[in-house]
Amino acid sequence: MIKIILFLTLILIFNINDIESLYVKGPFLIDKDKIILLRGISRPSLEWYAFGENLSLNDYKLMKGWGANVVRLSLNQDFWLEKAKLYNKEYKETVAKQVKMIRSLGMYCILDLHWSDDGDINTEQAGQKRMADENSIEFWKQVAPIYKNDTGVLFELYNEPLLLPWRVWKEGGVYNGKKYIGMQQLYDAVRNQSAENIVIINGIRWGFDLYGAKDLVFPGYNIMFGTHPYKDPTRVKKYWDQTFGDLSDKYPIIATEFGEFTCDTNYTKEFLDYADMKEIHWSAWGWYKKDCAFPSVIAEWDGTPSAVGELVKESLTRTIKEININFLDIEDKDKDNEKEKEKEEEEEGKEAKEKEKENEKDTDHHRHHNTSKENVTPLKSAEDEERDFIDDFETIDEEKDDDMSVGSSEIGAIVSAAIDVENNKT
Ligand SMILES: *[C@@H]1O[C@H](CO)[C@@H](O)[C@H](O)[C@H]1NC(C)=O
Ligand SMILES: *[C@@H]1O[C@H](CO)[C@@H](O)[C@H](O)[C@H]1NC(C)=O
Ligand SMILES: *[C@@H]1O[C@H](CO)[C@@H](O)[C@H](O)[C@H]1NC(C)=O
Ligand SMILES: *[C@@H]1O[C@H](CO)[C@@H](O)[C@H](O)[C@H]1NC(C)=O
Ligand SMILES: *[C@@H]1O[C@H](CO)[C@@H](O)[C@H](O)[C@H]1NC(C)=O
Repeated sequence: MIKIILFLTLILIFNINDIESLYVKGPFLIDKDKIILLRGISRPSLEWYAFGENLSLNDYKLMKGWGANVVRLSLNQDFWLEKAKLYNKEYKETVAKQVKMIRSLGMYCILDLHWSDDGDINTEQAGQKRMADENSIEFWKQVAPIYKNDTGVLFELYNEPLLLPWRVWKEGGVYNGKKYIGMQQLYDAVRNQSAENIVIINGIRWGFDLYGAKDLVFPGYNIMFGTHPYKDPTRVKKYWDQTFGDLSDKYPIIATEFGEFTCDTNYTKEFLDYADMKEIHWSAWGWYKKDCAFPSVIAEWDGTPSAVGELVKESLTRTIKEININFLDIEDKDKDNEKEKEKEEEEEGKEAKEKEKENEKDTDHHRHHNTSKENVTPLKSAEDEERDFIDDFETIDEEKDDDMSVGSSEIGAIVSAAIDVENNKT
């Protein structure tokens, strides 16, 4: 019921020149006291090329023309950090220019730490790694103060953590002999700079799986969780509830990437419908002219959509239209005393809405969801902490009575298949 009411009251704001601040409240994103649903597009290239490719105001205008209200920029810590071998002295300015253009069009902007270096600042092989490293802390330490004056800029702390024990994912530590930095440390790096910007915390298994997040409390606020549903046997629809969908009752969830690696579009369609049902935010991957395997949402740099791009574009347009119309319907009905039944239903909705508002007033002075250490439950027991993805995968399958259940002997093969799929992606 509450979801229906919220759908009816959902408003997308596009003129954000007079923005106050974007913040998280419960499972919602709020700006100027309106619920915001982020829907937009990922814009790659600044992760592999310090000047990006074909970046321009016009490019962002095209995205806005599709109906996007958010653009996600993928970045590389080694282009950013002065002590890095790959350092590019114009990179910070290049990034700043993009943010400025995107914000000038009234769209939100996600800065995504996409490529890192496994702690080797002298490497020429920056890329997608298992998880963040010490240099990623330095990256966020430097990025946060630059953008802390604009909460319309969100920080996606690490693009795609791979397989990791949940505790390492959260707090960092050694896994397979390598030292990693966890999401909590990246979060702290941002907040230590007194930057209140929303942070996005992606799951394990190529950013997809948030199953463990429900048990791990992140002391903090303005947190969204992120997922990357891409079509492979370990990420099909039957796993969505457990890996991220259920969490959307508690936190705002964003799929900063999703799709499939062939020219089929069924999986994408399935996901877009699911995202509408669960009010999941998203930024489709990616606005870059390549091919179905990328997967590209554009067929041409002039903004001509690919097959999957058509779907994304249609979804962006439809979402905006329907939500606005529904909202206007409510306003009209307010002035209209006919249609008794509909009105009753609507009254119900209004009451709930007012209650929401009152609740909001009560807590108006601390604008974010406060889960500081004092008021959270502790971490799980030591045994549970040791639990890794493989256990979780078995649990999921035990819980579900389905015909595709995965025995533990098959897990290795499935995981390798997923790794191969992902490696071919970028
Ligand atoms: C886009 O970028 C590619 C590679 O950098 C370049 O070859 C191409 O001409 C560019 N296209 C446009 C429309 O700018
Ligand atoms: C934030 O500060 C930067 C300088 O660090 C400035 O260029 C930018 O315009 C400011 N943005 C806002 C929204 O005030
Ligand atoms: C954040 O600040 C605290 C307190 O000064 C410090 O203990 C911690 O190491 C810092 N964390 C990061 C990631 O900078
Ligand atoms: C996609 O969906 C259509 C219509 O439901 C179906 O005919 C087709 O076989 C599906 N394609 C794949 C690859 O599953
Ligand atoms: C969060 O709660 C803690 C302890 O309850 C309090 O000290 C802190 O000021 C609160 N922070 C905010 C931003 O409300």
